[in-house]
Amino acid sequence: MKRRVAILISGRGSNMAALIQAAKAKDFPAEIVVVISNRADAGGLALAAQNGVPTATIESKPFGKDRAAFETVLQTALDQHRVELICLGGFMRLFTAGFVQRWYGRMLNIHPSLLPSFPGLEPQAQALRSGVKISGATVHFVIPETDAGPIVMQGAVTVQDDDTPETLAARILEIEHRIYPDALRLLASGHVMLDGEVCKIAGNAGSRDTLISPVAN
Ligand code: GAR
Repeated sequence: MKRRVAILISGRGSNMAALIQAAKAKDFPAEIVVVISNRADAGGLALAAQNGVPTATIESKPFGKDRAAFETVLQTALDQHRVELICLGGFMRLFTAGFVQRWYGRMLNIHPSLLPSFPGLEPQAQALRSGVKISGATVHFVIPETDAGPIVMQGAVTVQDDDTPETLAARILEIEHRIYPDALRLLASGHVMLDGEVCKIAGNAGSRDTLISPVAN
């Protein structure tokens, strides 16, 4: 049985599209049963509909600071679609600790940095300012703290001297589109084990690849 997944978005939804695409494969262990946006103008909504995925909009703005009231409506939609796992894809709204605890171990987020470095806004610009030579993307379980939680998968890219936040973001985004479907595959197939704050992958021999940056000529 495929696990039933909701993707929550606020914007263009390119990670959502990558997940929808991956889930079309017959052997993928999850199906995307609904895409929910907290903004009616999210570009990803049309993209989901084009792919035949049901969509819902629950505008968060009218709820103001009443996060719990927003989450009550959200939970009702999740229940209606019998959702088992949630993937956040550029979902720009914080949750209450209660909602996060309810979904702990079943809600993933993706962030465009190698966490725990550079959580929060403009992580690519943060990376450039700090001068790191390698950055990347992280898929992690959601905990009440923003852009933190047990790490399921990371992918790395080199940082070039002439990178701008935009060029770095574009390279990281390519990695995001690869690791998010892979991380969901692992979670949905029951291979992700939580050992306290650390995730381990059942039967994973791991890759021994190295990435060195810059290269000395
Ligand atoms: C992605 O780069 C994602 O990693 C980031 O928002 C973008 C959404 O793009 N998320 C965060 O920064 C979370 N803190 P998308 O709508 O095209 O997937």
